[in-house]
Amino acid sequence: MGSKYLLLFFYMVVSLMWASPRATSPSHPMMQRFEEWMARFGRVYADDAEKWRRFQIFQDNVNYIETFNNRSGNSYTLGTNQFADMTFDEFLSKYTSASIPLNVKQEAPLTSFEDVNMSAVPDSIDWRDYDAVTEVKQQGTCETCWAFAAIATVEGIYKIKKGALISLSEQEVMDCSVGSGCIGGGWAHQAYKFIIRNGGVATESSYPYTGVQRNCESNIVPNAAYIDAYQHLPRNNETSLKVAVSKQPVASYLEATRDFQLYVGGGIFKGPCGTAVNHVVAIIGYGEDSNTGEKYWILKNSWGKNWGENGFGRLERDVSSVEGLCGIAQQPVIPIINSTPLELADVGSDGISAI
Ligand SMILES: *[C@@H]1O[C@H](CO)[C@@H](O)[C@H](O)[C@H]1NC(C)=O
Ligand SMILES: *[C@@H]1O[C@H](CO)[C@@H](O)[C@H](O)[C@H]1NC(C)=O
Ligand SMILES: *[C@@H]1O[C@H](CO)[C@@H](O)[C@H](O)[C@H]1NC(C)=O
Repeated sequence: MGSKYLLLFFYMVVSLMWASPRATSPSHPMMQRFEEWMARFGRVYADDAEKWRRFQIFQDNVNYIETFNNRSGNSYTLGTNQFADMTFDEFLSKYTSASIPLNVKQEAPLTSFEDVNMSAVPDSIDWRDYDAVTEVKQQGTCETCWAFAAIATVEGIYKIKKGALISLSEQEVMDCSVGSGCIGGGWAHQAYKFIIRNGGVATESSYPYTGVQRNCESNIVPNAAYIDAYQHLPRNNETSLKVAVSKQPVASYLEATRDFQLYVGGGIFKGPCGTAVNHVVAIIGYGEDSNTGEKYWILKNSWGKNWGENGFGRLERDVSSVEGLCGIAQQPVIPIINSTPLELADVGSDGISAI
């Protein structure tokens, strides 16, 4: 007796599972669906055991998705995007990071949000209509949401203030920022700090994204756009966030949940989610559904076009808690052009890290 029989036993169990027509034969609808999904997302697994493991996770996610979608009264749908073979824990560890207390020191604001004439603030804005938003990008397996959110807002303010929409380099920001990189997440304001220190940032095409951390090459690649400063916005106030987004795209942190992971096919995302932020996106507009009157933020994410609404998404706005849904109003930050540059003083702890 012993390990030989145990091995044989395991072999039989595994091959039985593999051979079982119940779920794994290519003709089984779920396996067929999985293989179609694999083909669609170009997924290849090392061996059959890994494929089996991924199939089970896929099945579990499909069940979760269908249970959700079968409920009535949903404001949004879930679907099998590129994350459908990952457990939520895997997703969390790959695409988000543990939240860190919100303790970034607030610099003196460049823009006052005190005496805003709210009736002069538009009811809706979508910076895509002003050609101030580039194509949705894909951070891949690098923990670089902070770079993508920051670059999206720099692309936006540069278009608004300078008239040119230029796709800019997340790779340069990732390679060259201090304290933030591919692994371990980072902070949008670290990206702004680098761009200010560097006198600008390169185009996407001259410094393309590889999704792998490299040596900083900012000394050999020319700058294509710049910012003068950045500013943390007032916290926990969706009204001042609206004022800011009416002027330019804003980078903001939120808590990505399993539903956020599998949010596909559109609608207004309403949670569930808490306020333990672990991800950064660019808020590129806001509006109100003309039928239901539901208010939303328009997000630009960095998970490719299969997430949300072709890579963008809508998140419920003006909720009862001051942090905003998923904590979206907790720590917004913007890049600034044509204003008194901020003293790049030590801001103490960098606060939240997000990937
Ligand atoms: C969802 O509804 C469809 C259509 O009625 C049904 O075929 C499917 O089994 C349901 N799935 C779940 C998980 O409830
Ligand atoms: C929120 O921001 C608005 C607009 O800037 C301001 O009028 C209001 O006083 C702020 N609310 C709080 C609770 O600080
Ligand atoms: C506030 O904005 C509205 C709309 O633009 C304008 O009619 C009104 O005069 C403004 N009020 C003040 C006090 O500036």
